Amino acid sequence: MTETIQPHGGTLINRIVEGAEREHLLELAKTLYTLKISAWAISDLDLIGVGAFSPLTGFLGEEDYQSVVERMRLADGTVWSIPVTLPVEAHIGKGFSIGQQIALVGEADDVIYGILDVQSVYSVDHKHEAVNVFKTDDSAHPGVQKLFSRPATHLGGSVQVLNRPKAEKFEEFYFDPAETRRLFVEKGWKTVVGFQTRNPVHRAHEYIQKTAMEIVDGLFLNPLVGETKSDDISADVRMKSYLVLLENYYPKDRVSLGVFPAAMRYAGPREAIFHAIVRKNYGCTHFIVGRDHAGVGDYYGTYEAQEIFSNFSKEGLGITPLFFEHSFFCKKCGNMASSKTCPHDASEHLHLSGTKVRALLRDGQCPPVEFTRPEVAQVLIEGMKEPEYEVYNQTESRLQS
Ligand code: ADX
Repeated sequence: MTETIQPHGGTLINRIVEGAEREHLLELAKTLYTLKISAWAISDLDLIGVGAFSPLTGFLGEEDYQSVVERMRLADGTVWSIPVTLPVEAHIGKGFSIGQQIALVGEADDVIYGILDVQSVYSVDHKHEAVNVFKTDDSAHPGVQKLFSRPATHLGGSVQVLNRPKAEKFEEFYFDPAETRRLFVEKGWKTVVGFQTRNPVHRAHEYIQKTAMEIVDGLFLNPLVGETKSDDISADVRMKSYLVLLENYYPKDRVSLGVFPAAMRYAGPREAIFHAIVRKNYGCTHFIVGRDHAGVGDYYGTYEAQEIFSNFSKEGLGITPLFFEHSFFCKKCGNMASSKTCPHDASEHLHLSGTKVRALLRDGQCPPVEFTRPEVAQVLIEGMKEPEYEVYNQTESRLQS
């Protein structure tokens, strides 16, 4: 059996350099101008390198950037919704010439992660990007805030990856797209549904995953573990919660857990498109988009991240989105449901605010089993005792978006 879905753009990009060529480039890199890059840029670089961002071979140049911001496509027309860019201070950017190679070095660890062939140096209008990509220029929006904090000069060009960021924990759940593609073939899965999450898997998540599993061969649970807001639950605690959930409630031969080491953009609708395309590169044929996917606060309508898909043809996107209504436990039905399947009044629906769930967990109490599996709640209760949750415990934010 062969792979059932082509990567976005038709080819799985591989910019990871190995062996003698890598040794040679590492020596060369030592002679090049060194640009210090952040953890976020390292993560983007690595995801480009392994082909998760196929067809990108590097950071966006000016033409592609403008095209992505204006019309959610690369300059050649390929669907692409989120700018993947390398910002640099203006006075440094000015010094580069087209065709120059520069070494990309981790700002925290001095590791040479790669080499960039500078093909474009350009400056951007952050406000314009924010309004187009995030649909707001409100600096209280975490994605906009991040954008505004970055320099407005960008370097574009293809990259070669020489070192990979190391997973500190859960290393066995890091798979490159070539590996997941192989894995799905080995499992004999012709159809695979990808599930993006930055939260613990509560019953509503489980319900939509399992509903999708009824019509496909396998589920790829693909939690995002890159940079998130400080009040989102840490990847570490979440991973523990996914493991106990899978152990107790999912058929082993129908689910695969692998992390998505990307930063969260909180760009709602545009990020849903981006999430779907990337999961296609990992080999998924279907992708779940529920309510307020990748949203934050009240910036996006409940189903905007679904509606945006109507801008693209089936062929243009390649992966099939599976849309789900807001799901909840209905006391009268006695099961999980949505407005599509439940005739009862909202007063019959179990609704718990994030604040309430957090307060329960902080007090060491499990939320109702209809909301969260007790094994998951236990992991979250333990997780919330960790010192890093001081901030989280004090902030009024949503546990479940
Ligand atoms: S996200 O920011 O990573 O999208 P989250 O982890 O909360 O957020 O959601 C993961 C997926 O589950 C998204 O597709 C989201 O739309 C969906 N989802 C979350 N909660 C619900 C719910 N109650 N009903 C339906 N879909 C949901």
